[in-house]
Amino acid sequence: MADMRPIGVFDSGLGGLTVVKEIIKELPNEDIVYFGDTGRVPYGTRSVETIKKYARQDEKFLLSQDVKLIVAACGTVSSVAGDTAKELPVPFFEVVSHASRQAVEKSKNGKIAVIGTSATVKSGQHKAEILKLNPKAQVITVACPLFVPLVEEGWYKADDIIVLETVKRYLKPILDFGADTLILGCTHYPVLCEPIKKVLGEDVTLINAGTATAKAVAEYLKENALENQNGGKSRFYVSDKPEFFKSQASILLESEVDRSEVQKVDINNL
Ligand code: DGL
Repeated sequence: MADMRPIGVFDSGLGGLTVVKEIIKELPNEDIVYFGDTGRVPYGTRSVETIKKYARQDEKFLLSQDVKLIVAACGTVSSVAGDTAKELPVPFFEVVSHASRQAVEKSKNGKIAVIGTSATVKSGQHKAEILKLNPKAQVITVACPLFVPLVEEGWYKADDIIVLETVKRYLKPILDFGADTLILGCTHYPVLCEPIKKVLGEDVTLINAGTATAKAVAEYLKENALENQNGGKSRFYVSDKPEFFKSQASILLESEVDRSEVQKVDINNL
């Protein structure tokens, strides 16, 4: 039996689109409803209490769109607010465990680096997941709080001196540590792949949380016969400036996002 309801995806802003891109690749016939909390981004510098409050509101909005499952396409929410999922009437997917598993599978020297927002790094979730799977792994975690504003501003090219210098400064300890695998623990970070690769070199494997999470969603839908064979449309909701989101989303998704597909919602007054 198919389930024609859309997949709900949310993030604090644009970053979750890196997960949407992977879901579309994996499941091209599913409809997607995306909420980007552009009016309150960033989440990663806020208290756990506030992040949980925001996550609950974002989930409530997606439920109002009759979604069949929810993907927290946000490393910060996945790390510190995963327990809000217990209150949900639909399945919930986070991005920490899938990325950690993939990193353990890929790493050859057992030295794994994790970059994320301050809240994500402080939570220690990635490290805990990695050590559960490989107790001998060595893990370094680095918070990169300036990466999210850079991406939200549309600055992510490797030839941008400010971008490159910022990446160099944050990733220096990772180079010194000798990690062969790097988890992009914030869903905004795959957008910075180009400068990150330039700084770390081609030998370090980058783990995009969206890839493994999209696969997990696809497996779940298949196993439970909940796939939609006739969809393939995406709708986007934001809490501020639909125009700016539209232009950035078209770049990040590498496909034109129409003005009518992006709407503003008042997330505080649902
Ligand atoms: N994309 C969010 C994450 O994965 C960004 C967090 C933020 O808004 O600071 O953590």
